[in-house]
Amino acid sequence: MCARAVERGKVKKVIAIYPGSFDPPTNGHLDLIERGSKIFDELVVAILRNPDKDPLFSLNERRNMLEDLTREFRNVRVDTFDGLTVDYAGKVNANAVLRGIRALSDYEYELQMALMNRKLAPHLETVFMMPAEQYSYLSSRLVREVARLGGSIKDLVPEAVEQRLREKLDPAVKLEGLSRRRSSKRKSSK
Ligand code: PNS
Repeated sequence: MCARAVERGKVKKVIAIYPGSFDPPTNGHLDLIERGSKIFDELVVAILRNPDKDPLFSLNERRNMLEDLTREFRNVRVDTFDGLTVDYAGKVNANAVLRGIRALSDYEYELQMALMNRKLAPHLETVFMMPAEQYSYLSSRLVREVARLGGSIKDLVPEAVEQRLREKLDPAVKLEGLSRRRSSKRKSSK
């Protein structure tokens, strides 16, 4: 064993939180979660419970979607929080905050937030990661807008999220699915 490792003693586990609104989760978020899961020992996807925002998906819906989508990652879990991100990080013993930077335009806002968090909690490090290039223009806000106006969001969100968005924006789709499921159940029980 090298002298440096001995000096450092027990290697510290790196727990990161990935805070955000995730309304809805996109392929860009999932790309970042996958990257984060490879470098952190534990990654907590933390959905902000924000009383000032009127989200399209309820907190529970977002939580359920993210849990389903991240099930394959053994070191990733999903949680919700309110209040300050730094306080939540302390609560779960996180030593890092993961945030994605898609383009230069994100940088100013993210830098401001990271420096404010550092002022509040000097030992908490913010780690920026870049999603794959094909997601560099992708945001939950644009996904909601395109879906609302009837555009295709294929390849931008996982299929399950696409379906949930369709159901949310057009309740008739949900009813259609329900009656299809019921009639196939009736057929199979005959
Ligand atoms: O996905 P978003 O909406 O870009 O995420 C923003 C989020 C949740 C990371 C940010 O709004 C946040 O950290 N809110 C919690 C309140 C807080 O800690 N504010 C001070 C941070 S500078």
